[in-house]
Amino acid sequence: MGKLDGKVAIVTGAARGLGRAYALHLASLGAKVALSDLNLKSYEEFQAEAADMTGETTVEEIRARGGEALGFEFDVADRDAVFRMVDEIKGAWGRVDVLVANAGGGRGKPRETAASIVPPDLFDLVLKMNLYGTYHACSAVAPIMKAQGSGKIVTVASYAGKVAGIGGGYAHYGTAKAAIAHYTRYLAQELGPYNIQANCIAPGVIATARIVKLVGGSESSNSAANDIALRRLGTTMDCAKVVEFLSTDLSDYVTGTLIPIDGGWNRAD
Ligand SMILES: NC(=O)c1ccc[n+]([C@@H]2O[C@H](COP(=O)([O-])OP(=O)(O)OC[C@H]3O[C@@H](n4cnc5c(N)ncnc54)[C@H](O)[C@@H]3O)[C@@H](O)[C@H]2O)c1
Repeated sequence: MGKLDGKVAIVTGAARGLGRAYALHLASLGAKVALSDLNLKSYEEFQAEAADMTGETTVEEIRARGGEALGFEFDVADRDAVFRMVDEIKGAWGRVDVLVANAGGGRGKPRETAASIVPPDLFDLVLKMNLYGTYHACSAVAPIMKAQGSGKIVTVASYAGKVAGIGGGYAHYGTAKAAIAHYTRYLAQELGPYNIQANCIAPGVIATARIVKLVGGSESSNSAANDIALRRLGTTMDCAKVVEFLSTDLSDYVTGTLIPIDGGWNRAD
């Protein structure tokens, strides 16, 4: 018996990296998993991600392990597309128990994205792919979860949503992630009376192929690890285990929280 047998989970941005790890992990716990991405083969962008794949997409990987999966390709900033996906999932599987609103990320370089100079198009894009994508997905699943009288929503912020990097670069990304954390607190207040829990995670430096390429080194041989209490970067499984907690009955009395998954990175609070 899996902890999520009979449950239906949605993971956005699940073609690679953290989203893929969440989708595979929730499927291993017994959930039927619907996953979405701008490009279900986005792993092709990074050699290490491609080398890790055991199927053509995360959907095939789950099916090959005996699970049930559906794949959707669209931009989470497109509200209608998000609602269409959720309608289709409800039609196919009859319910939605878990949403992990993971799709997102940054764009541009730190030196061109400081708070006062970040170009409006980049500011807009990053707010849309992170904050608006999260808002659309939560709006789409909430009516179904309310009708069920249960549901688990996990949103994704970042260490950057709490601490502004020196020099102020990546201000659009940090702002979007801070907004997601606060949006989640409001969501928890609204949905609590329906027995729906909404919580936010804030990963630190997690060694996805994208991040390893960006910061160099390996999990523990990285200079970033010197500022982390546990002296290593995070793994996708470190995050997937917290998503398991927030997606299962282990967290039934936990809502509106922000959980850092950063190994005790030296925070300014
Ligand atoms: N890896 C880290 O260290 C770290 C740290 C803090 C927060 N995060 C957050 O965790 C999430 C996943 O990060 P990751 O490292 O796996 O990133 P990643 O770039 O490796 O994967 C993100 C996936 O989301 C998809 N995506 C991006 N924008 C999308 C959109 N508008 N619509 C649909 N799909 C979209 C991409 O195609 C990609 O497959 C992101 O929200 C990121 O901001 C990651």
